Amino acid sequence: MSDELTIERLTEELETCRKRAAGILETAVNAIIIIDGHGVIETVNEAATRLFGYTRDEMIGQKINMLMPNPYRDQHDRYLQNYYDTGVKKIIGIGREAIGRRKDGTLFPIDLSVGEVQLSTGRIFTGIIRDLTERKRLEEKLLSISEEEQARIGRDIHDDLCQQLAAIGCLARVVYQRLTNSNTPEALQMAEITRLITSANARAREMSRGLMPVTLDSQGLMAALAELAASTERIFRVSCPFHCEQEVNLADNKLAVQLYRIAQEAVANAIKHSKADLIEISLQLHNGHVRLNVCDNGVGIPDNVSGKSTGMGLLTMSHRARGVGGMLSVESRPHGGAIVTCEVPLPQ
Ligand SMILES: Nc1ncnc2c1ncn2[C@@H]1O[C@H](COP(=O)(O)OP(=O)(O)OP(=O)(O)O)[C@@H](O)[C@H]1O
Ligand SMILES: [Mg+2]
Repeated sequence: MSDELTIERLTEELETCRKRAAGILETAVNAIIIIDGHGVIETVNEAATRLFGYTRDEMIGQKINMLMPNPYRDQHDRYLQNYYDTGVKKIIGIGREAIGRRKDGTLFPIDLSVGEVQLSTGRIFTGIIRDLTERKRLEEKLLSISEEEQARIGRDIHDDLCQQLAAIGCLARVVYQRLTNSNTPEALQMAEITRLITSANARAREMSRGLMPVTLDSQGLMAALAELAASTERIFRVSCPFHCEQEVNLADNKLAVQLYRIAQEAVANAIKHSKADLIEISLQLHNGHVRLNVCDNGVGIPDNVSGKSTGMGLLTMSHRARGVGGMLSVESRPHGGAIVTCEVPLPQ
């Protein structure tokens, strides 16, 4: 009798646990998908059916790769096997951004975190998926607003401030001439004032060009980076060579512009933070990728920079890189200084 009671109570408690787990699963805002050790879908919640556009029955019993685009779709079995063979966790417990594929074939950005649970019946993997479409759209919007705002400031500096400085420069030259003609001792100071106005105008012009939108033709990225290096040397009096051993022609103007903006921010950071006297920009083709490097011989990247910094530069650089399908890394170099690398695969 007491045994029966215990079994009854256990069954009851199991049922309560099951209901609680099902309640959590079904009310979760994020999509949750549980697969077995062979990648076969065992459980999905309501949010997952909404997100991917399949019914529960269409998903359960199918391979998880039905929710991924190629090349991941074809490679997923190999990923799993690799993990079993090596034990190296490339995504489990880490989480990362990926691409999801809906039933209608449309692709969308997701944040995916995967956990592993070892049960007596075998292992299972739990995936929690968050739709990043809206966040990406807002990020794009923010970037384009900041581009527009920069361009506006650039135009204002060029059309207004530079014109005023040019006019003041002309007046100053006339005064200088008069002072020189009348042998006034202040002529020397006027000469200095004229020189300062001319150089302020040149500085303002450089600034306005840096803020303007870049439109680059296929070879324009090389020329634009060479100009960035030259103007960095002129303005900031540091050494800034540009290396490009092999011609890099990019058909995609968006890619060229994003790489240029990344180089601009990396150089600006080196000037602002690194105390370097050498900043090198290099552009190369490597294994079907285009690779941009900006490295300096300064103090290096401080530890835990993402936790401490309120700056936007590193975030926007990495967003720009991801926006063109690439990766960005910002690291300290072993022998001092920092290196920013952006690598983007080129279309075949
Ligand atoms: N080349 C570098 N050398 C040393 N430290 C760097 C370098 N680049 C970046 N950092 C560090 O990384 C931090 C974050 O850079 P980030 O570009 O995000 O912000 P910021 O330059 O401070 O501000 P913002 O770019 O928004 O004007 C900097 O504050 C600096 O501490
Ligand atoms: Mg910065």
